[in-house]
Amino acid sequence: MPHDLIDLRSDTVTHPTPEMRRAMAEAELGDDVFGDDPTVIALQERAAELTGKEAGLFVASGAMGNLVSLMAHVPRGGEIIAEVESHIVYDEAASHAVVVGASVRTLVARDDGTLDPEEIRAAWRDPSDAHEPITSLVVLENTHAHSMGQPLTAAYTSEVAAIAHEHGVPLHVDGARIFNAAVALGTPARELLRDADSASFCLSKGLACPVGSVVVGSRDFIWRAWRARKLLGGGMRQVGVLAAPGLVALRDGAAGMIERLAEDHANARRLAHALAAMPGIGALDPTRVRTNFVIFGLAPAPDLPAAAVPVRELRARFLEALAADGVLMVEYPHDHVRAVTHHGVDGAHIDRVIAATRRALAAVGAAPLQTIGA
Ligand SMILES: Cc1ncc(COP(=O)(O)O)c(C=O)c1O
Repeated sequence: MPHDLIDLRSDTVTHPTPEMRRAMAEAELGDDVFGDDPTVIALQERAAELTGKEAGLFVASGAMGNLVSLMAHVPRGGEIIAEVESHIVYDEAASHAVVVGASVRTLVARDDGTLDPEEIRAAWRDPSDAHEPITSLVVLENTHAHSMGQPLTAAYTSEVAAIAHEHGVPLHVDGARIFNAAVALGTPARELLRDADSASFCLSKGLACPVGSVVVGSRDFIWRAWRARKLLGGGMRQVGVLAAPGLVALRDGAAGMIERLAEDHANARRLAHALAAMPGIGALDPTRVRTNFVIFGLAPAPDLPAAAVPVRELRARFLEALAADGVLMVEYPHDHVRAVTHHGVDGAHIDRVIAATRRALAAVGAAPLQTIGA
């Protein structure tokens, strides 16, 4: 791949900063299976502090963070209420079924990424009926990826937590991008998660760490998640080398990687406004870009050659033309395309992406040739 490639497939493509690499080289280490790696302990404590929870647990990935949380909360034969296109339902290889032994009751998100509280109430099973699974957990995703990274507010999360708690059931938040939500809403993560019983967040996405997520919750919950991690073979030894960049990422202010997420959001907004104005781009309302996701469709005018091409084929050609021009985006459900802004993508890159998108649309016949501009 050319050196100057602009990779917008995901914020997971970010590389650790020089400071993170230094921190990795210098990290004080122990054996984390014995619980005595000081760097891991410090990271877990910092994560707990930032999220307002009693304790944290460093895990290999966001998927593992969600899975150990499910294992800690849900008995076999339990049921989880979750959004139909949320990561735990759509993108985690059915681990809720395969490993946890749980079913999922799916609800469809509204445009703002929320589930209708009335639908959540109605999704509850009757625990006195032996035919039914036992509703055991509610999961929210914040930011909600498939609604273009919408951030969920503290008030909404508390409302859902109250419904869950009325039924004696916990709320887990898949907060893979919780700090994007915090920055977008101007609300600290600990407020967003105030009434959630557990959460997991990723270090390896917009926070630019190479590996890892942290699960947070009560001490008792973290003990069960720790056991679940062990069961999955996820106990790691001198893993402070991987926790060290997380401590850099979670620093306050400009020394850390949270505050700067605002730049990614501004870049995503600018990109979305430019794309939405291009002939050939459809299904994009740029005012809905609240965090670092831009999701759009291809919609050539009926008199253009591309209109005769099946939309998936057209999308494949578009992505290929973009890649040949040094810009990577990725296929997304519903025949859409996703572009994600992140550390390492600056305003000049966004200008190049806008120009390359124009050229790719014209190259595949989705826009008139004269739209090829700067
Ligand atoms: C919302 C959400 N949750 C969880 C994950 C899982 O993270 P990982 O890829 O580290 O397993 C992702 C990854 O993209 C995600 O977008």
